[in-house]
Amino acid sequence: MHDSRETIINHAFVAGYPIRHSRSPLIHGHWLKTFGLPGSYRAIEVAPAEFPGFLQGLAAGERGLVGGNVTIPHKETAFALAERPDDIARELGAANTLWREEGRLHATNTDGHGFVANLDERAPGWDRATSAVVLGAGGASRAVIQAIRDRGIRDIRVVNRTVARARELADRFGAAVSAHPVAALPELLHGAGFFVNTTSLGMDGDAAPVLDFRDMAPDAVVTDIVYVPLMTPFLQQAQSQGLRTADGLGMLLHQAAPGFERWFGRRPVIDETLRALIVDDMTRHA
Ligand code: ATR
Repeated sequence: MHDSRETIINHAFVAGYPIRHSRSPLIHGHWLKTFGLPGSYRAIEVAPAEFPGFLQGLAAGERGLVGGNVTIPHKETAFALAERPDDIARELGAANTLWREEGRLHATNTDGHGFVANLDERAPGWDRATSAVVLGAGGASRAVIQAIRDRGIRDIRVVNRTVARARELADRFGAAVSAHPVAALPELLHGAGFFVNTTSLGMDGDAAPVLDFRDMAPDAVVTDIVYVPLMTPFLQQAQSQGLRTADGLGMLLHQAAPGFERWFGRRPVIDETLRALIVDDMTRHA
């Protein structure tokens, strides 16, 4: 008898410019293999001028694409052009995860989810902090601020080289967020329960300023969104000063999970096998 059921093969992507350094294909490829799914996830380089047309094609279901991730420099445009951005993307003004539903393009931003899910896993209780210091005021900082505010931290001290950018974030997020110059760091760290670096300081062996974390609350957690190297200068300093730390790799892994579930219908697991796979790739392409 003829079996009329067709195997549905979904295809997803990560679009950026440039895109060759993205580890997302490795992450999603691992999950597709683990579940034995026939779909695909691949990196597509899309220049800014071509991005609106690329999104139109996605909304129309071209090439079997059901959705994907977008990264630098497309996150703001993806938000602006998606028909159905959710509340998270709307507040941030940026999206990193897209999917097609009934011919419409939906968008969210999973960076904040990835950030807190990693902390829940590697530094449980981190959200007992009543005050937090956030170094940096760029796009990554925005997602981090939103996520920790949504977990109940109501005193978020944003420190940035360019104070005006920190002030913009304080204006965007309201009373829970205050803006400060870098010189104020020692006094801001005093008694704080949480510190995160959202700048590129310390990335790829670059220098980072020396900070004294010993004045923070006794159960304070220090984390970094930089994950190359895994042990960043800030984490090294905090660890040697006896603080609890969480590295940034888990944020990358966790931010990928909601998209995979939307496109392929299975909830992926972030485990040591996946972490080891990415660490190995980082070692080989250092
Ligand atoms: P992203 O979207 O990755 O957050 P971004 O919007 O370019 O990137 O923001 C980069 C952040 O790192 C900013 O807070 C930036 O500080 P400025 O706003 O003053 O530029 C910070 N940053 C980058 N290089 C830095 C450096 N050498 N010293 C201090 N801060 C730095």
